[in-house]
Amino acid sequence: TKVVFVEANGTRHEVQARDGRSLMQAAVQNAVPGIDADCGGKCLCATCHVILPADWYARLGGPNPEEKEMLDPTPERTPTSRLSCQIQVSDALEGIVVQLPAFQM
Ligand code: FES
Repeated sequence: TKVVFVEANGTRHEVQARDGRSLMQAAVQNAVPGIDADCGGKCLCATCHVILPADWYARLGGPNPEEKEMLDPTPERTPTSRLSCQIQVSDALEGIVVQLPAFQM
């Protein structure tokens, strides 16, 4: 599944993400800068923060309760923020473009 990460400075990273893995894992495996994922995908660090386009946010739904708890204190949180370790890659994500915040927590 093709997914695109856009760094805060506008640099685009188009990667092939493996279905069944998380969006965070796709970024880490492809050495996309800007996804730290300190907790390794346990929804405990919020350093895998991504910002979704509004249409994709609506399609995928908002954060789950644990995710919301981690996102709430994140300074760069936006109305369409998600944690990329909580988004599972599947065909449904084909072509998604996510924005990375300037800083992770
Ligand atoms: Fe830590 Fe997503 S990797 S919350």
